[in-house]
Amino acid sequence: MSERLFIFDTTLRDGEQVPGCQLNTVEKIQVAKQLESLGVDVIEAGFPISSPGDFNSVIEISKAVTWPTICALTRAVQKDIDVAVDSLKYAKRKRIHTGIGTSDSHIKYKFNSNREEIIERAVAAVKYARKYVDDVEFYAEDAGRTDNEYLARVVEAVVKAGATVVNIPDTTGYCLPQEYYEKIKYLKEHVDGIDNAIISTHCHNDLGMATANTLNGVLAGARQVEVTINGIGERAGNTSLEEIAMILKCHKYLNIDTNINTTKIYPVSRLVSSLMNMPVQPNKAVVGRNAFAHSSGIHQDGVLKNVKTYEIMDPKDVGLDENSIVLTARSGRAALKYRLSVLGVNVDDEDKVDNIYQAFLRLADQKKEVTDDDILMLAGADRTASHSIKLDYLQVTTGKGVRSVASIGLDISNQKFEAAATGNGPVDAAIKALKKIIMKQMTLKEFTIQAISKGSDDVGKVHMQVEYDGSLYYGFGANTDIVTASVEAYIDCINKFRIRE
Ligand code: KIV
Ligand code: ZN
Repeated sequence: MSERLFIFDTTLRDGEQVPGCQLNTVEKIQVAKQLESLGVDVIEAGFPISSPGDFNSVIEISKAVTWPTICALTRAVQKDIDVAVDSLKYAKRKRIHTGIGTSDSHIKYKFNSNREEIIERAVAAVKYARKYVDDVEFYAEDAGRTDNEYLARVVEAVVKAGATVVNIPDTTGYCLPQEYYEKIKYLKEHVDGIDNAIISTHCHNDLGMATANTLNGVLAGARQVEVTINGIGERAGNTSLEEIAMILKCHKYLNIDTNINTTKIYPVSRLVSSLMNMPVQPNKAVVGRNAFAHSSGIHQDGVLKNVKTYEIMDPKDVGLDENSIVLTARSGRAALKYRLSVLGVNVDDEDKVDNIYQAFLRLADQKKEVTDDDILMLAGADRTASHSIKLDYLQVTTGKGVRSVASIGLDISNQKFEAAATGNGPVDAAIKALKKIIMKQMTLKEFTIQAISKGSDDVGKVHMQVEYDGSLYYGFGANTDIVTASVEAYIDCINKFRIRE
């Protein structure tokens, strides 16, 4: 009989904390529903005290989702727990995730406290949360750098106080795989009552060891893993859900099963990448564009003779179905709608479907094949519908040995504005022209053009950071014309800082 491993997805909490990855509530619901059909056991839906947006998202996700437990994060503080309880009122299954730092540096510098007081605060938080919900998870922040003896005392105290799950985060991604294995084993062997709770892993990837550490935690006895889609998360990210799910599928002899329907992995990965404007690195395990691409002659020859020569996973097992990816100018509205639904975007409003379809036809005229990424981008494109500043037109003259010239037209709250400028390249000229209309002290801090994947007619994606009035704003633009995509990304930033004014 195989053992069951619970999958706790924190894409919408630890993942969404990443600057530039913020989603609105509608987008979070879209992701949550896909996580449900993927088969995750727990969705960490947010940190409700942190903002009204997070509070509202936990409410709406709780209403939208049926099977997974909905979890809300708190500090070991009564007010946080009160707000979390309130946000979970519609959840069919609910969990509070409370905790405190336990490493010496957290205790001394973050809390100016001592070990005994930290145990008291941890126990008080768990007891308080248990008054409202039956399922309380405790996290010992920076457990990776907490000495095992003290960590065991904390864990024993919180389990006695009623914690149903104990989370052992390697918050800084510091642990070596063997060290993390020993940590979990130590807790299994030294904590009285540990069998009354589930041990959970929560590993960060600062040194590229998140997946190895998580797997070792499981081998040492952890029965819940905290993961994110595409491994997104603070700094170098969290453990990737898809990597853990596929490791366990490929290594069946480990006898550890999850509830994950692995054929949904690829569509969910694309959806999260597209909504969060977070490209997946091409060589990313399981979901990267090159994960199943054999380019060397020796490999191709082997794969043609027998696919098992070089492939340990069937691409279909992760939902990669080559035949279904390509849409062309001849594809109908229904095909587009179906493809969107496979990718997790259910558009019920027929006018909206029409808008997306018209944009799809325009794009299909410009390029032969419209990919999943393209149509996800088109479906998200009407996020700009509420923008008060829109790009009306852009014309650029550029070339070798001449100074670039740009003329730009903007629509600002239904009023038309025009300007022209020269610059050191087409993007520079276009942004200088834009700045003649939007006369603000703003500075471009980061400018990333996502690699063109399929050909010279592909949609180029631009991510930008612009500093204005002491804050950084993130913008995104996508277009087959990379200069237009750049200007759209800049305008996306400006629309955001206008919202805050
Ligand atoms: O990395 C971490 O320690 C966390 C906790 C808040 C669970 O994300
Ligand atoms: Zn974390």
